[in-house]
Amino acid sequence: MTDLHLPLDRAAGRLAAQIAAGLRAAVRSGRLAAGTRLPSSRDLSRDLDVSRGVVVAAYEQLVAEGFLLSRRGDGTRVAPLARPDEPAPPRAGTERPPGSPDPSGGPSGHPSGLSPGGPPGGFHLDLWPGAPDLAAFPRGRWLTAVRAVLRTLPNEALAYPDPGGAGALRAELAGYLRRVRAAHAGAGQIVIMNGVAQGLSVLVRQLAGDGHRLLAVEDPTSDRQFPMLDAAGVRLAHVPVDSEGLDVAALARTGARAVLVTPAHQYPTGVVLSPARRAALIAWARDVDGLVLEDDYDAEFRYDREPVGCLQGVDPERVVLLGSVSKSLAPALRLGWVVAPPGVAERLRAHRSRTDLGGPVLEQYALAEFLASGTYDRHLRQMRRQYRSRRDALAEALRAHIPDAVVHGVAAGIHLYVELPPGCDERRVVTDAAKAGVAVAGAAPMWSGARSAHAPPALVLGYARLGEARLAQAAELLGTVITHRAQG
Ligand SMILES: Cc1ncc(COP(=O)(O)O)c(C=O)c1O
Repeated sequence: MTDLHLPLDRAAGRLAAQIAAGLRAAVRSGRLAAGTRLPSSRDLSRDLDVSRGVVVAAYEQLVAEGFLLSRRGDGTRVAPLARPDEPAPPRAGTERPPGSPDPSGGPSGHPSGLSPGGPPGGFHLDLWPGAPDLAAFPRGRWLTAVRAVLRTLPNEALAYPDPGGAGALRAELAGYLRRVRAAHAGAGQIVIMNGVAQGLSVLVRQLAGDGHRLLAVEDPTSDRQFPMLDAAGVRLAHVPVDSEGLDVAALARTGARAVLVTPAHQYPTGVVLSPARRAALIAWARDVDGLVLEDDYDAEFRYDREPVGCLQGVDPERVVLLGSVSKSLAPALRLGWVVAPPGVAERLRAHRSRTDLGGPVLEQYALAEFLASGTYDRHLRQMRRQYRSRRDALAEALRAHIPDAVVHGVAAGIHLYVELPPGCDERRVVTDAAKAGVAVAGAAPMWSGARSAHAPPALVLGYARLGEARLAQAAELLGTVITHRAQG
C-alpha cells in the first residue's frame, strides 16, 4: 500500500523498527487519522517487499505502545488516543493544564518510619536493589570523552551554563530519546536535572503549588521516593498494581489528577503497563485534565523483546518523561532529564535559574559526546547481554533452591521481585540472610500502610553487581535460610 509512504533504508537494517518509526510519525502528524484501518500484514509486507514477520513485529510494537489497536475480525487500526500533535482542547472551566482544586479524602500517605535506607556495608553477596554494575562503568571511554570535551570546548562554555542544561546534550538526548524511546522530544522540551530524583522533586513541588496536593503513586512503589515526595508537600494516593500494571480504574477513584508511574518496568514488581492500561491512563489524564509523570525506569534493559516506546510519545501534552543515566552508567554522575510540554519545561528551567544556576557542565558535554559517538549505545548493548545472563542465572538458581518462590515480572531491568513461599516471615528472612552475608531488601517497606499487612512476603533482589556463580551461591544461601526458618 504505497500511500502509507514508508520509505525504507534496506542497507540500514532493522526494518521492523523503520516501519514502526514511519507509522508512528504518520500517526503523530495526523497523516494517519484515528480509526484508519491499516493494510493487513500480508498486504503491507508484499507492498514493502519485506517478510510478513517484519510487518507483524512493527504492528505489535505499535499496539504495545498504544498507537495502534488490533482486534480479531477488525484488523489493525490507528488508536483513537494516539494524536499527540493535536493538544487536547482545554476543558471548560480550566485555564491552564494542569491547575487543579485541592482534592480531598484520598488514601493516607505512607507510614513514617519505613525509611528506604540502604544495605549496611561489608556483605559478601550484595543483592541490594537499585544500583547497576558499578565495576562495569566504562572508565576508559568516559575518560576519552572528557578528554575530547576538554580539548575542544571553547572557554565561554566554562561560564555559568544554560540552567536548563547544555544545548549539545539536550540536542543529543532529543535524538536519542526519539530514536530509542519513541519519545516526542525536541531539545527545547528537555531540561537536564540531577537525576530523576531532582526532576521529580521539583515537578511535584510545582504541582503542589498549582493545587495538586494529592499525588497518585503505584502500590507498591520505590521506598526511596516516599521521603522525597513527602518533602515535596503532597499526600499520596496508593493505587494497586496488578499483572497489567497500574489499576487505572482504581486511580480514577482516588480523585488525584497527577500520577507517578513506571510503565516500562514497574518498580518493584517488574510488570509492564499493558497496552489497554496505557490507553486507559492517557484517557484518564485527558478526562481529569491531569498529568502523568512517567519514570522511565529500566527502559534500557528489556531482554525478551524490543522495549516498548515511552508513554510520553503517545501524548506529550499529558505525560512528562523522566530519565537518567543512574542505571545505564552510574548514579554518581547525577545526570538525568525531564521531557515536558514547553510550559512545564520552562518552569523547571526557571527553577534551576533561581535556585542553583544549573548543573555541572563538563559531565553534560561528556555524556553528549558519549551519545553522539555511539559509545552509549555500545555500552548498553554490552550491559544488556550481561544483565540478561545474570537475571537468567539468578532466576534458575532460585527455582532450584527455593522451588516454592515465585519470580514476578518480565525479563527486564536489574532486579527481581520474588514472592516467598507462603508462611515465610519476610523480615526474618532479610535478617537471617544478612547474618549469612547476603544483603537483600524486603518488599514490605514499598507497600502502602494499608496493603503491606496483606502483601505476600517478598524480596527485591538486585542482580546487576554479581556474576552468575555468585548469584547462584546467594540463591543457595537464601534457600538454606528459608528452609531453616521453616523447620525452626
Ligand atoms: C523507581 C526509581 N526511580 C527513580 C529513582 C531515582 O533515580 P535517579 O538516580 O535518576 O535520581 C530511583 C532511585 O532509587 C528509583 O528507585
